[in-house]
Amino acid sequence: MAQRVRSSPKFGVPAVVSCLIALFCANVLLYVYLDALYEDTSPSSTHMHCSPGYFKVGTMKNCTPWLQCPEIRANIRRLRLIGQGAVKQVYLSEWQGQKVALCALSSEQYKADFLHGLSMLRSLQSVRVVALVGVCEEDGVFVTEYHPLGSALTLDSTLAKDRYRSQDTWHVRLRLALDYVVFLVFLHNSPGGTRVMCDSNDLHKTLSQFLLTSDLRLLANDLDALPLVDPRGQGIKCGNRELMGEFVAPEQRWPYGEVSFSDDLMPGYNEKSDIWKIPDVTHALLSHVPGSDVIHLHLFEIHAACKRQDPKLRPSAHEVLSVYRSVYDSMKESHTESVRDML
Ligand SMILES: Nc1ncnc2c1ncn2[C@@H]1O[C@H](COP(=O)(O)OP(=O)(O)O)[C@@H](O)[C@H]1O
Ligand SMILES: [Mg+2]
Repeated sequence: MAQRVRSSPKFGVPAVVSCLIALFCANVLLYVYLDALYEDTSPSSTHMHCSPGYFKVGTMKNCTPWLQCPEIRANIRRLRLIGQGAVKQVYLSEWQGQKVALCALSSEQYKADFLHGLSMLRSLQSVRVVALVGVCEEDGVFVTEYHPLGSALTLDSTLAKDRYRSQDTWHVRLRLALDYVVFLVFLHNSPGGTRVMCDSNDLHKTLSQFLLTSDLRLLANDLDALPLVDPRGQGIKCGNRELMGEFVAPEQRWPYGEVSFSDDLMPGYNEKSDIWKIPDVTHALLSHVPGSDVIHLHLFEIHAACKRQDPKLRPSAHEVLSVYRSVYDSMKESHTESVRDML
C-alpha cells in the first residue's frame, strides 16, 4: 500500500510534464494559426512584381516583356466570353499554357474610353491594380492576368461556396474594404496626379470594376474613366449626362432643381465624390457576418464624415484608411485576446 503511495509521484511527474508540453504546443499552434489568420493588410502573394513593362502570371518563373501584336495574334487562343461591359468584351484565353484575360473593344463608339483605360492600366500598374500582360492597340485588344473568381460582384456567392465558407469572416471582408480604400488613396495620389473613379454611378457598377483574387483580395481592373483633377481647374465631371440617386455624391447631381439639365451649366467636382461612396461600398463588402455590426459601429464616425454634404469637409482617402487600419488592428487584437482568454 505504502509502496503504491510512493510509486504514484513516480508516474505523475512525467504525466504532468507531458500535459504541460502538450499545452505549450497547443498554444504555439494557436498563435501560429492566429498569425496566419491575421496577417497584415499587405498585398496578396499572388500579385507578382516585375519591372514596368514586364509581367509574370500563373506558373511563369520569369518576368517577360508585355506581349505585342504579333505574339497576341499568333499565340493567344480565345476560349470563352467571361465578361461584357459597355466598352469591352472579356474572353478567358490561353497563352503558352497560361490562362489570361483578353479584353477586346466592343464598339468603335467607345474607342476613346478603351484607349484611356489602357493608358491608365499601363501607367498605374501597382499591387492593387490588375497586371497587364500585353497590348495590341491596332487590333483594339489588351491582355491582363486572369482571375477566376471574376469581379467583386461574386463576393457573396463565392464566400457561400464550401471551399470558401470558412473565410466568410469580418476579417476577410474588412480586409477587402481596406483594399478598396488603399486603391482610392493610390488613385488620389497617383503618379499621374489626382484621379477620380468615375465609372461608379451605382454600387453594382462600382463592384464590377474590381476583381476578386483567389486569395480574396480586391484589384482595380476597369480604369476606363479616371479623369484628372487639376487643382487650379474647374473640377472634373463624370460623363456629360445627368446623374441621379443617393449613391452618387450630392455635388454630382444637377443643382438647379426645375431647370432642365445642361452639361455646360453643370459645375465640376473632385475626388471627394469617391469619398462619399466609401460607406456604401464598405457596407456591401462587410455584409452581415459575426463581428461586422461591431465594425459598423467603430466606423460610424468616419462614415458620417464621408457623407458630409460639403465635399471640402469630407476626409481624404488617406484619413479614412488610417481609421480603417486602426479598427482592423483593434478588432484583431481583441479577437486574439478573447481566444487567449478561452485557453
Ligand atoms: N482579368 C480578368 N479576369 C477575370 N474576369 C475579368 C477580367 N477582366 C474583366 N473580367 C470580367 O469582365 C467584366 C467586364 O470587364 P470590364 O473591364 O469592367 O469591362 P467594361 O469596361 O466593358 O465595363 C468584369 O466585371 C469581370 O467580370
Ligand atoms: Mg466595367
